[in-house]
Amino acid sequence: MAVERTLSIIKPDAVAKNVIGKIITRFEDAGLAIVAGRMMQLSREQAEGFYAVHRERPFFGELVSFMISGPVFVQVLEGENAILKNRDLMGATDPKKAAPGTIRADFADSIDANAVHGSDSAENAAIEIAYFFKPEEVTSR
Ligand code: PPS
Repeated sequence: MAVERTLSIIKPDAVAKNVIGKIITRFEDAGLAIVAGRMMQLSREQAEGFYAVHRERPFFGELVSFMISGPVFVQVLEGENAILKNRDLMGATDPKKAAPGTIRADFADSIDANAVHGSDSAENAAIEIAYFFKPEEVTSR
């Protein structure tokens, strides 16, 4: 299986709950390593740019407002099958539909404050990692 990298964001709701460490432990226990990471307060422009693909969706304004409502932790996860593995650990977008034991089931309150983001494809992972990190800021195991 291929070693991949994926972009993960611990969103403002989870940062406010002080569960960054608990969420990162889920990644580490699943064999993913944090090879880059930073606390950030996103600007409106940064959040709008990151979610530009969703610009026409009805919740775009709410999503951007939420993502700038407090600090986030952005990180690059590396490991075998990292993109799908992270999505499985996160659980469904709506925490009410997320499988028991997933990050969203355990830490998220609603579809608009859902604790974590994870890249959904190899193509988007590369774009999203480059959005937040220079190549020299991403280490390797
Ligand atoms: S996904 O993960 O891209 O397949 O999910 P999707 O349903 O397409 O949603 C894209 C992002 O929008 C967020 N989202 C919402 N935000 C606010 N309100 C509502 N109703 C809503 N529905 C979806 C969802 O969490 C995705 O954000 P990220 O950060 O990618 O998880």
